[in-house]
Amino acid sequence: MISEDTFKLIYSSKQPISQSVVWSAPSNIALVKYWGKKPVQLPANASVSFTLSNCKTITELTYSCDKLHDSRFSFDVLVDNVANESFRPKIEAFFEKTLEFLPFLTAGHFTIRTANTFPHSSGIASSASGMAALSLCLMSIEKSCHPTMSEAFFLTKASFLARLGSGSACRSISGPIVAWGNHGAIDHGSDLVGVTLNRPVHDVFSSYQDTILIVEEGQKQVSSTSGHDLMHGHPFAQKRFEQAEQNLTDLLEILANGDLTGFISIVESEALTLHAMMMTSHPSYLLMQPATLSIIQAVWKFRQATGIPICFTLDAGANVHLLYPNYCKKEVLAFILKDLVAYCQNGRYICDEMGAGSKQLNEYKIL
Ligand code: PMV
Repeated sequence: MISEDTFKLIYSSKQPISQSVVWSAPSNIALVKYWGKKPVQLPANASVSFTLSNCKTITELTYSCDKLHDSRFSFDVLVDNVANESFRPKIEAFFEKTLEFLPFLTAGHFTIRTANTFPHSSGIASSASGMAALSLCLMSIEKSCHPTMSEAFFLTKASFLARLGSGSACRSISGPIVAWGNHGAIDHGSDLVGVTLNRPVHDVFSSYQDTILIVEEGQKQVSSTSGHDLMHGHPFAQKRFEQAEQNLTDLLEILANGDLTGFISIVESEALTLHAMMMTSHPSYLLMQPATLSIIQAVWKFRQATGIPICFTLDAGANVHLLYPNYCKKEVLAFILKDLVAYCQNGRYICDEMGAGSKQLNEYKIL
């Protein structure tokens, strides 16, 4: 059984030597959503996600033994090769939360060079892939002091650290399907880390497609942190957590038997319930835009007319993720071009699919 102490075991008085490491970590899209949390960054219910392939963050972390700044944490951040102060508070908070597990964080100077393969303005949250990539880099530095560290420990601790940065980030270390949270039906399921779904998955889900329709570029008006907080005292919270539990049980069965009708029913209900929670909290808020609803209605109409098993899901924003099997890619892309592009801001959409997870790179290069 994993506990927080598991990740302190590798504690060492050894200081790393100066070095640079590079990792790429993907974004993920939840099928059963995590919405609502307990301290510290523990999910109120278990969730499961598809790991993506093309939407990812590439991060290079350079560690030098000497501090450059007088502050508790000495670091600089470059986003797209330009110094970026706006990331500082989030990284400082992350270092603070993870210091007890990574004692070298106060020992030297870090230069964090990071970029996303998807545009910043796209409205796609980069916190999951960003926190995952940074956590993996930090683990590479820890591992340099402990060369015998197992790969399993390395990846599990990376997930643990990423979770402390942003909950859903713990599902961005591995792939193609990752579960996070204690749940009777998930082997080794844990509130502390994401685990790769280790059970048979039907062929229809291999290379499952995710086309992200960009309805709204830029930052959303209400952060996920505030949204999670509003689940405290929410009139429907308890029922929602029970529903997520049941949806996850049912979805695991569907992932094994390939029942796409069942898949669509759960995934769409999860997306709408997530937004229903926002619309029924106090204060209430709305992240969907008119174009979000127009797309959902067009998807329903298209599915009914063609029988093509496409469905939608939503993150905490207005953009729409279209999920569908690889074999109907051609028809769906034609549908997007004909009927949906008009709803996308500046006609933008991103084609992605399920992916294998994070990867260490030899050099910092945005592909
Ligand atoms: O990881 P956070 O704290 O940004 O929360 C994200 C929650 C959702 O993306 C809306 C759902 C999920 O499970 O990813």
